Amino acid sequence: MLELLKTRRSVRAYKEDKVEQEKVEKLIKSALISPTSMNKKEVEIIVVEDKETILKLEQCKKMGTMGLLTAPLAMVVIGDKEKSDAWIEDAAITSIILQMEAEDLGLGSCWIQMRGRQSETGDSEAEIRELLNIPSNYGVLSVLSIGYKNEVKEAYEDPCIKEARVHYNKYI
Ligand SMILES: Cc1cc2nc3c(=O)[nH]c(=O)nc-3n(C[C@H](O)[C@H](O)[C@H](O)COP(=O)(O)O)c2cc1C
Repeated sequence: MLELLKTRRSVRAYKEDKVEQEKVEKLIKSALISPTSMNKKEVEIIVVEDKETILKLEQCKKMGTMGLLTAPLAMVVIGDKEKSDAWIEDAAITSIILQMEAEDLGLGSCWIQMRGRQSETGDSEAEIRELLNIPSNYGVLSVLSIGYKNEVKEAYEDPCIKEARVHYNKYI
């Protein structure tokens, strides 16, 4: 797992090749298995393979959407706000689990934040809800761009545990 975590990097350029159905199904399974607070399972995903729709999703946010320009696959991670007050945490967990599964399948991915973001014309979440016919009780956390990598990113080095951000027993 640590090796997988070191090699996973955000990939924002993809080859044209489609992601095989078998891999798409594994990705979907990973999302469905992801843990949710109180096991409420309020997180849902919308699998988008239609290029035109992916490009429309790209327009739903001002910046940081480069991954959607070439991706053959996008997964929109949403959560039912009425079912769980922890939908943000749960949808975030599903997003990263999807990214790790993608990496394990030899695919690249990028998390594109939508919650709380704006497009040129309005609120990103609202525009995505309208584009994909998502009911208003769902929050849109992220859109993941997924596909075969068309850029090389260096894997992370083994982090130095002594360095920072880790405290034992007390902060200082
Ligand atoms: C909550 C969250 C939101 C992010 N939003 C975006 C985004 O909107 N666009 C984008 O290109 N990358 C986005 N990223 C990817 C980060 O920029 C990336 O993970 C970070 O720079 C570290 O790079 P790495 O993923 O290659 O390790 C997001 C990542 C997280 C965890």
